[in-house]
Amino acid sequence: MNEHQRLADVSPDRIFAAARRVVARCDELARATATPGAGIERVYLSPEHARVNRLVAEWMREIGMATHQDAAGNQVGRILPFYGDPEAPALLLGSHLDTVPNAGRFDGIAGVLMALEVVRLLRAPAGSGRPARVPLPFALEVIAFSDEEGTRFGKALLGSAASAGGWHDEWWGLTDESGVTLREAFLDFGLDPGRIGEAAYRPDQLVGYLEAHIEQGPELDARGESLAVVSSIASARRFQITIEGEARHAGGTPYETRRDALLGASEAALAVERICRAEHHIIGTVGQLETFPGAVNVVPGEARLSLDLRGEFDDSRDKVWDAIARDLDAIMGRRGLRWRAREIHSAPAVFCAPLLQDVVRAGIMATLPAGVDAPATLFSRAGHDGMSIADITDVGMLFMRNPGGISHHPDEFVSVNDVAAGIWAFAEAVLHLAGEHH
Ligand code: GLV
Ligand code: MN
Ligand code: MN
Repeated sequence: MNEHQRLADVSPDRIFAAARRVVARCDELARATATPGAGIERVYLSPEHARVNRLVAEWMREIGMATHQDAAGNQVGRILPFYGDPEAPALLLGSHLDTVPNAGRFDGIAGVLMALEVVRLLRAPAGSGRPARVPLPFALEVIAFSDEEGTRFGKALLGSAASAGGWHDEWWGLTDESGVTLREAFLDFGLDPGRIGEAAYRPDQLVGYLEAHIEQGPELDARGESLAVVSSIASARRFQITIEGEARHAGGTPYETRRDALLGASEAALAVERICRAEHHIIGTVGQLETFPGAVNVVPGEARLSLDLRGEFDDSRDKVWDAIARDLDAIMGRRGLRWRAREIHSAPAVFCAPLLQDVVRAGIMATLPAGVDAPATLFSRAGHDGMSIADITDVGMLFMRNPGGISHHPDEFVSVNDVAAGIWAFAEAVLHLAGEHH
């Protein structure tokens, strides 16, 4: 069978209609926020999370998918292959629906909605009394992961870790900023912590995982190109660092005797920048800083800061952490402060499977005029659910141009044209993979 021709039959109008629907639905999901009128905030196990799962489940059923919300709150839809049995392994397509605080509309969300459009383009219409099916040698599942960002509990990739069977029992005790534990949040959401294992896929249930995502960086925009193949996803570690000094009177305490934790934290943040900037492909960010007691007339006795550290390779990332730790020893020693770090997230770099890179590349090539060079291949500096899913199956990713590289901000944008190109390439990639299965 010639897979290629089949999608060539799909009119550009249909693909543009699909892209417009994706963008309109991104707008609709943006209304499910804890902070109406401000940027979007939709965190794990919140009422907004339940609301978007319900909407996405409806959209899944509308295109003939059987749906369920899994034991970790991920929303899943499944459509069977023509000749496959109900247990046929699935190609998993997806991304996440949760957000950072003050988020944009597209990070994660566009990828979930594009996956639904791929199913819509590929499926054969339901016959009388027969469910819709896809003319592929594998089932398709679309998964909307529930927690990629880690906004609520600090630990990222909770939803996809559950899907990959990588849940750790010590996570149940993680707390959000109101002191609600992850276990309590599960119960409040109507999920049973005792059933978390049921969210896990077995490797033999999956053919692979493909995700479309905005780039979250400026490279495609600078190159004037719409789409890229992703080669790997950056490795990440996150720490909560606590610096202890002495809280003292702001008027009466001479500089010589102060042990000001905020000044130690400030030097620490600058050291992170200096050390990371000197390294190729290592990025360190201090995104949170709190002081205690936090009064205008008290020298800060304690400071807490976060560190997000990423790199293309685990070993260079770890060497940079060692260098930062040595600098912190020196800074705090000089200032009479004590410091400690708690690691709250760690994920190794993940390499996209060569076959899935090839099918994504072939998918993108199908959208380009003849004679155009191969598309860009980029490594992802942002984290993605594929980092967990790579534990159980092959992972491939497609990036879309993100003008200005602005992400994790309400100005985040992707054009309808690029979403259309992305849907087209994504569907072609699925068909190429199907071709490999014959
Ligand atoms: C998620 O977007 C991350 O890269 O932190
Ligand atoms: Mn994000
Ligand atoms: Mn994302």
